[in-house]
Amino acid sequence: MRRYHTGNDLARVQSIPELADLARRLLPHFVWEYLAGGAEEEITLTANGRDFERLGLCPRTLRGVHSPQLDTILSGRPSALPLAIAPTGYNAMLRRDADLLLARAATAKGVPFCLSTVSTSAMEQIVEQVPDVNLWLQLYCLRDPKVQEDLLKRAERLQVSTLLLTSDATVLGNREWDRRNFVRPQQLTLRNKLDVLGHPRWMLNTLWPRGMPSLGNLNRYLPREAQNAAGAQNFLGNQMDTALDWQALARLRERWSGLLILKGVLHPADAERALALGLDGIVVTNHGGRQLDGSPSSISVLPTIAAAVKGRMQILLDSGVRRGSDIVKAMALGADGVLVGRATLFGVAVGGQAGAQKALQLLADELRRSLILLGCEGVGELAGQELIRY
Ligand code: FNR
Repeated sequence: MRRYHTGNDLARVQSIPELADLARRLLPHFVWEYLAGGAEEEITLTANGRDFERLGLCPRTLRGVHSPQLDTILSGRPSALPLAIAPTGYNAMLRRDADLLLARAATAKGVPFCLSTVSTSAMEQIVEQVPDVNLWLQLYCLRDPKVQEDLLKRAERLQVSTLLLTSDATVLGNREWDRRNFVRPQQLTLRNKLDVLGHPRWMLNTLWPRGMPSLGNLNRYLPREAQNAAGAQNFLGNQMDTALDWQALARLRERWSGLLILKGVLHPADAERALALGLDGIVVTNHGGRQLDGSPSSISVLPTIAAAVKGRMQILLDSGVRRGSDIVKAMALGADGVLVGRATLFGVAVGGQAGAQKALQLLADELRRSLILLGCEGVGELAGQELIRY
């Protein structure tokens, strides 16, 4: 990773990679690896960045573009940018109340926020404390149907507009660093414990005063004595449903009357099947390179998926978006918008809500500048924009 020399001043940070570098310095090693790492050899994680780099933009000149339009409709509602914050679990390991801080940042910037099933704040807390939030909920299929039904009822009560079912994580990806950093679940190695002591700012921002976070959304389904980080890990180990299949998705489609998006598509036949089931959208994703190592980058498979379903359902893409120009490339290849995972997580780790807003602002500024330089009046014009493949 490139090193930057702007100190810790958020206002001087120029890019998402620079935010990442700041986060790396601020976070203890085990948290940084959790945030930035991928599965096994990180082949997919690497491909996510590399395949965006292999796409070139060919500008048209003398078009006189002044203020390109950045806003669009995502999941039926206006969004100031063609992006939403992706669902990510255990966010409070990066900074206390990180889900709330991300929800506030998203709302301040006029974009949707997607809360993970394994969030550290409960969905009720998010809606109570950020009443204007455009809240989406990500669902992991859980073995206990009562738990799943209760999650759906809670989401309905809160008028969550969009549900994302994640299908690419029925078992946890092989994240070797996670096992390497712990002697056993929740028990860091001595080396990592010492490393934590070398990060007092993180301890103050994160551990104080409540210690390691537990699962806000799921705690109520655990016995009181297990409502902690270890209990949560145990619970999830037992609850993730490896039998998740198309029938389960069809049942969910019948059960959930709001918008339903399948997150975990990398093959056009799966996109077509989701469309046939009446889904409202898909996320073309490899989970940020954290699940099946060797799976293709999302951007490399997007064109065939778009050819199969473009215009008939919403296509979102994630995995590797770090620049406004990445959003341009994704939309040129058929996406209606993107999700960003680590980009805003780097921000929240470094500067809380202000840091997450900074990440969104950087992406917005880069997107605007790219559109002007391309000679494009707005994101609505990007579909079909010619790209060069290196
Ligand atoms: C994730 N992701 C994820 N996805 C999901 O459906 N439920 C979850 O709980 C999580 N948790 C999670 C934690 C962390 C630390 C990361 C980095 C990612 C995947 C996420 O939604 C998204 O697909 C990727 O983050 C997109 O890749 P980028 O933007 O991080 O490159």
